[in-house]
Amino acid sequence: MKTLRIVQITDIHLQAEIGSKLFGVDTAATLGEVIDAIRKLSPVPDLVIVTGDLADDGSKATYSRLREILATTNLPVYVLAGNHDDIDEMHESLVGGNIYFESMLRLDEWAFMFVNSRVEGESFGWIDPHEQLQLVNNLNSVDDLPVLLSLHHSPMAICSSAGCQLKNAPDFTRMVDSFPGIKGVIGGHTHTAAEKKNSGHIQFTSPSSFAQILHDQPQDINEGEGFWGTHRLKPASHGFRVLDLHPGGQISSELYWPGGD
Ligand SMILES: [Fe+2]
Repeated sequence: MKTLRIVQITDIHLQAEIGSKLFGVDTAATLGEVIDAIRKLSPVPDLVIVTGDLADDGSKATYSRLREILATTNLPVYVLAGNHDDIDEMHESLVGGNIYFESMLRLDEWAFMFVNSRVEGESFGWIDPHEQLQLVNNLNSVDDLPVLLSLHHSPMAICSSAGCQLKNAPDFTRMVDSFPGIKGVIGGHTHTAAEKKNSGHIQFTSPSSFAQILHDQPQDINEGEGFWGTHRLKPASHGFRVLDLHPGGQISSELYWPGGD
């Protein structure tokens, strides 16, 4: 049995046009720096998981561009959708080659499960009953394998703003803790890095490959247009997380900041 090395990339917010910038950041360039750093890792990773908000606009052109960029990892890449993504376009224009969009994967002595938390037209996340049922069925199919769960909206309570929430996070966390096989949960959407130990598993939220967000407001004063009145973007701060999944279910993790934190 070997240790599996997983890389989590999240919140890429790629745009369709070469050279275009989002809040002054060329998100293709920062992703390129992240991929360069991943290619230098030793040991070499076994798998990349991209936890949503891959395209800023959910367009065919952006997913086609991303497909070419992610091919340069030379690793299998599993993706899931965030609130900025279009699920149909992801299947149409992104999946193929080294890129997969599935609900489950078994690799060596671990199982990986990918949960959809996207709600059409909303920034916040929610795991609907159909998705919960599929997750429970997947969990029941893997016997005693340790499990790493991935979703876009982190269940960690980073921010009080409505748009930053996984709305059923408390129920989801209780459900996760009722399955002792689940050892870790990785999410994004927060554009920040944190980890929290729960009774049976560790939750991780990870840096965006585009830029971090400072969630330093006491209250959500006005959701929507008011988002940038209550949050601050921190450009020149792009990163990713490496998770080493050890035999027996232990997880160790390290953050990388190729652009500075
Ligand atoms: Fe998001």
